[in-house]
Amino acid sequence: MTAPLEGPVIVGISAHFHDSACAVMVGGRLIAAAHEERFTRRKQDPGIPREALRHCLREAGLTIADVDCIAYYEDPAKKLDRQLWTALPDVPETGPHALFRFDADRPRREIREVLGFDGPVEIVEHHLSHAASAYYFSGFEDSAVLTVDAVGEWATTTWGRGTGADLDLLDEVEFPHSLGLLYSTITGHLGFEVNEGEYKVMGLAPYGVPRYADRVRELIDVTADGKFSLDLSYFDFRNPAGMGSERLAELLGLPPRMPESEIEQAHCDLARSIQTVTEETLLALAHRARRLVPSDNLCMAGGVALNVVAVRRIVEEGPFRDVFVQPAAGDAGGSLGAAAVAHRRLTGQRPSSERMRTALLGGAVPPSDVARKLRAAGTDGFLDFTDREPELLAAVAERLAAGKVIGWVHGRMEFGPRALGGRSILADPRGADTRDRINASVKMREGFRPFAPAVLAERAAEHFRLDHESPFMLETCEVVSPLDLPAITHVDRSARVQTVTEEANGRFYRLIKAFDERTGCPILLNTSFNLRGEPIVWTPEDALLCFLRSAIDCLVLEDFVIDREALPEVWRTWFENTRPSRGSAVSDTVYTLL
Ligand SMILES: [Fe+2]
Repeated sequence: MTAPLEGPVIVGISAHFHDSACAVMVGGRLIAAAHEERFTRRKQDPGIPREALRHCLREAGLTIADVDCIAYYEDPAKKLDRQLWTALPDVPETGPHALFRFDADRPRREIREVLGFDGPVEIVEHHLSHAASAYYFSGFEDSAVLTVDAVGEWATTTWGRGTGADLDLLDEVEFPHSLGLLYSTITGHLGFEVNEGEYKVMGLAPYGVPRYADRVRELIDVTADGKFSLDLSYFDFRNPAGMGSERLAELLGLPPRMPESEIEQAHCDLARSIQTVTEETLLALAHRARRLVPSDNLCMAGGVALNVVAVRRIVEEGPFRDVFVQPAAGDAGGSLGAAAVAHRRLTGQRPSSERMRTALLGGAVPPSDVARKLRAAGTDGFLDFTDREPELLAAVAERLAAGKVIGWVHGRMEFGPRALGGRSILADPRGADTRDRINASVKMREGFRPFAPAVLAERAAEHFRLDHESPFMLETCEVVSPLDLPAITHVDRSARVQTVTEEANGRFYRLIKAFDERTGCPILLNTSFNLRGEPIVWTPEDALLCFLRSAIDCLVLEDFVIDREALPEVWRTWFENTRPSRGSAVSDTVYTLL
């Protein structure tokens, strides 16, 4: 890819908490963005994103010597201030050595020593990075901005205003009062991993009734003007074993659930209750945003903006005409925002005035590489459709219509937690047992978790109560389809929809079209191409390993189709005797086999 020659080259970095990422912006245009985990194969890798930077620069046709500035997504000194405030009361018990893990110089040091960059480093505050990651990519000329997460430096919620090139934060709620930490505390109480299991709580909620909602409301006081505070007697944010105090279990009347233990109705009810209270609170925050900024538009970011059910309520019931959430609304997206703010500071200009239309911001693997790697890996039992896309799509649509589960790798990799047709597992959404089969033997995850549909954009309204595009799978809506779609319809008849256009998705759009022509169904089940606990696949080797270690029926790597039956016998035997290790990255040992 050839980078534009005009304007500064700015790298945005988010790192050192979880899910680190990198973005490259040239002349105010976002050229590439990627998560470090996809390259290191460590789920939510928090390290300085060395591999992602290398990848993004290569994608932009640049080297580190071309970079004018690296922007870091939070202020390490301010963060240290908050960390010390939180940790100091424990020092008499834990000893002063506990303080050594706090290192405000680490980002700058690693940018110099690990990334090899000795130019200027721009520090952008955490919630300003979040706000910029939404506003500067929204295409709005003016907008209210709402950021909500667990915690940045001190802020946990901010309200802001974007006007042209200017973006200002107007007000905030500070730690320890945090809607994100409230949700995470209940996530931990429900036996799911904090910072990872929040979307499981959201998926569990429709199975319950909000009978704990009044008790959850005891935990948070939302004022009439739309700010909030937590009752801190119910929390212990210094406790790594769980962020709720002993009083929390007493109030809820429900002990903490042990991880991996059976999920009971009470757990579903608590999930529904925290979801309900979160939606109510977010709506109050959105109304406050409108009072502070009289715009028809709202931009949202921060981890809580990934709560798609709550976002839908703001779209439907909130005071705004248009709501924009970008696909990496969590901390990874802070890299985009930091780069955008640095561009504004360096040039005085708005980085981009166009709305972000695609999340396909990572690299692509050249088809020639795929063929070479397949042969090097010892299989020649693949079908080659080079320069024959219609035949390829017909072959894949035929397999999907026959009930097969497809691993699909095409074009640039997605940025953000959702697979959107670049690295996806696809299936017929009409199959009665498809959801259970994929949950049990492909994704190896909890049976209650729903799958999402990808639908041709122009046909979406026939099947979903949705009157606008949803390209990033960031909204839920009601399924109103005349078709029976059990694999993608949640228990409350909702679905988290991705609308697909030919302009943004090319071959993926044409695949759904081929499936529609064969079946009359313009929808595919679309879930991320990974096993439970592992990052989404990146290379052909990652895809092959995921294929071999799961029950996916067929792998499509760019122009090549590999049916399970065509695999070499030795591979099948070896992998049938090798159980995937739950929750861990794919080991290097396994990679050496390929
Ligand atoms: Fe954040």
